[in-house]
This record gives sequence, C-alpha cells and structure tokens, in this order.
Amino acid sequence: MKRDITSFYNPTDKVLVESEGCYQYDSDGKKYVDFESGVWCANLGHSNRAINSFIKEQIDVLMHQGYKFRNSYSEELSVKLQSLIGFSGGSSVFLSSGSEAVNLSIMVAQHLTGRGKILKVNNSYLSAYGFGQIKTDNRDQITIGYNDYSAINTIDFSDVAAFVIETGGASVDMVRFPDSEFLEKLSDFARINGALLIVDEVTTGIGRHGKWFGFQYYNIVPDVVVTGKALGNGFPVSAVTFNSDTTQKFNADGFIYAQSHQNDPLGCAIGLKVIDEIERGDCISVCKRVGEYFSSRLEYLMNNYSEYVNDVRARGLMLAIEFTDKIDGTKLHNTLFESGFVVGFKGNTLRFLPPFTISAEDIDNLIDCIERFIKE
Ligand SMILES: Cc1ncc(COP(=O)(O)O)c(C=O)c1O
Repeated sequence: MKRDITSFYNPTDKVLVESEGCYQYDSDGKKYVDFESGVWCANLGHSNRAINSFIKEQIDVLMHQGYKFRNSYSEELSVKLQSLIGFSGGSSVFLSSGSEAVNLSIMVAQHLTGRGKILKVNNSYLSAYGFGQIKTDNRDQITIGYNDYSAINTIDFSDVAAFVIETGGASVDMVRFPDSEFLEKLSDFARINGALLIVDEVTTGIGRHGKWFGFQYYNIVPDVVVTGKALGNGFPVSAVTFNSDTTQKFNADGFIYAQSHQNDPLGCAIGLKVIDEIERGDCISVCKRVGEYFSSRLEYLMNNYSEYVNDVRARGLMLAIEFTDKIDGTKLHNTLFESGFVVGFKGNTLRFLPPFTISAEDIDNLIDCIERFIKE
C-alpha cells in the first residue's frame, strides 16, 4: 500500500479493515486477537454494538457546539464522573485526548498555586506534548525515582504546583504499580507543601484496574482526576474533573481556557453511554475476574519456566510478563504477531491490556503460543 502517512512510529505493512470485539481483520482476511484494545481505549471491545448503535442515533441529534451554549450531556457526565470519583460540588471539562486533558489540569494547578513545576515519578507518561515524558529535559518537572522512598524528603516543593500521579504506568516502564506506602507518603508530602494532587487515570481509569479508578487502590484523595481513552471506547473524548475546592477557586478568579471541541455534546453523550454499559454489564467485576485468570496463566509460565521468566505484573486487565535474556523478545513478539496476537512489547517484556470481553480461550491460545516459543 502507498505510504503517505508520516512515519513517526513504525507500523507493519498490514492494513486493518475491520474490528469487532477482541478481533481485528487485515486486508488479507487474517484475524488478530487484540490484546491492546487499540491503544488501550476499546475496553468494551471494538465496534461495541450497543455503543455504536447509540452513536449512529446520537450523531444526528447533536455533535458539536459553540461557546454560547451549555449542553445537558456534558453536565450529566460531569455529575456521573464526580460520583464515581467521590467528588461532589466539583466540575469537569471535556476535551478530545488524554494529552490535552493532562496538560490542562497542570495549567490549572499552575494558575491556582502561582507555581511553575510539577512533580512526577520517573515512569510516568503524562502526555504526548507539553509536560509529556518526551521532554525529558523539562526544567518544569521534578522527577523522583519509582518507589524511591529516600528521595521523598529531599524534594524542594517551593515551586511545585502539582504532583501528577499515575497509579499504573503501562508505557514507559511496561506495567508497574507504585507501592501504597510510597505513593501515599509522597502524596501527603505534596499536599502538606501546597501542591495539588492530580491523578492521571487516562489509562488506568474507567475500570481497567478492576475498580473505576486506579487511585481507589490507594489511600489518596485527589484534587483533580484526568480520564480519557476508554471513556469513549475508541471515540476521542477526555475529561478533567476538579473537586469542589479547586472548582470554587478557579471560578472565583476567572481562569479562561477554550478550544474547538471543548464539552462537545457527542463525546459526552458517548461517555455517558459507555459508563452506563459498564454498569449494566457489571463489566468491572468481569475485568477483575478475567484479569485474575489471565494473571494465573502468566504465573503458570513463570512457575514452569523460571529460567526464562523474570516477573509477572498484573492489576485488573493491565498485565505484563518480563522474560530473562534467554528469550529473544523481538523474535517472540514477531512470532506472536504472525500467529495473530497483537500485544505490547518493549525489550524483553510483553504487555497486555485487552478488552474486558477477552475469552479464556483467547488467553489460553496466547499462553500456548508463548509456551511453544519457550520450548523451541
Ligand atoms: C497515563 C497516560 N496519560 C496520558 C496519556 C495521553 O493520552 P492520549 O494519547 O489520548 O493523548 C496516555 C496515553 O497513553 C497515558 O497512558
């Protein structure tokens, strides 16, 4: 196929033509099991029937709006997100991508505190631009080592506007979950020193960890929660949700921010529908249950091939298996792709964030394929 897409990343030559549930089909008719949910968005499966039918109807009702109006979908979605987070009297703003939402949350924190820097843990992603990890030389960031207790007391908080927390990094460090004591201690310190607590739930939220949000595994009370990705199940919608205190502060001093797709009614209606589907199908319990099964199968590999497997990490349906250097990670990843399994991969680690509807059979087939590779 002609290549007119700027190659900022390196896709294969395969052309995707159809996706349904956990499966994707290329132009040769080959089927792939998607253990990445696209880019960790399609938690309820690709082309989810209930959501797609809803979108087809809703698109004719209201898609986009200008700054003069409010719409009921965004108001309702804000109330819903606040109740799931545990906020009341707060507010949300809706955008399109997780990156925009994270950056806006930081701009608000800078504005409210009059401080310039953020604190983050070194395996955080945050966003594709602005405060994102790509800017490694970012002088506006204080970066602390993952689970580095000894560094906590050394942080100079005087210019820190916010601690931006990720409760499970899937990209930079291939699925790691910070220790409770570390994260809670750091959060307490940040708060005592006047920084806001922003929790970035773009990947971990909307049920991925087997709870609505990853921070709910910790004793942390956020000021701001950022969601995206699975909120639209593949449709681009993201949210920054502020607690009541933060909302009152920026309402009082007239913080201004505007962009074309802010609070668009279609995205918000889809967010409401996604949450409704999750609640009606008890999908978070499903995620937890399937995650436990998947994790037990990865542990089977670790227990039986300890020479080849270093580590298994899992929470809900965010999992990784790290191999020793006796395994050629690139070769294993290529074998899996050729065998019809789409998984995440870096170095010698495989990552899995499948739709919650992934079947035990698909998980078993993947494990069999990895086991065959190890045996060979
Ligand atoms: C934790 C986290 N925050 C923010 C983002 C950025 O979201 P988006 O790619 O939708 O801009 C990502 C994307 O992977 C992420 O994993």
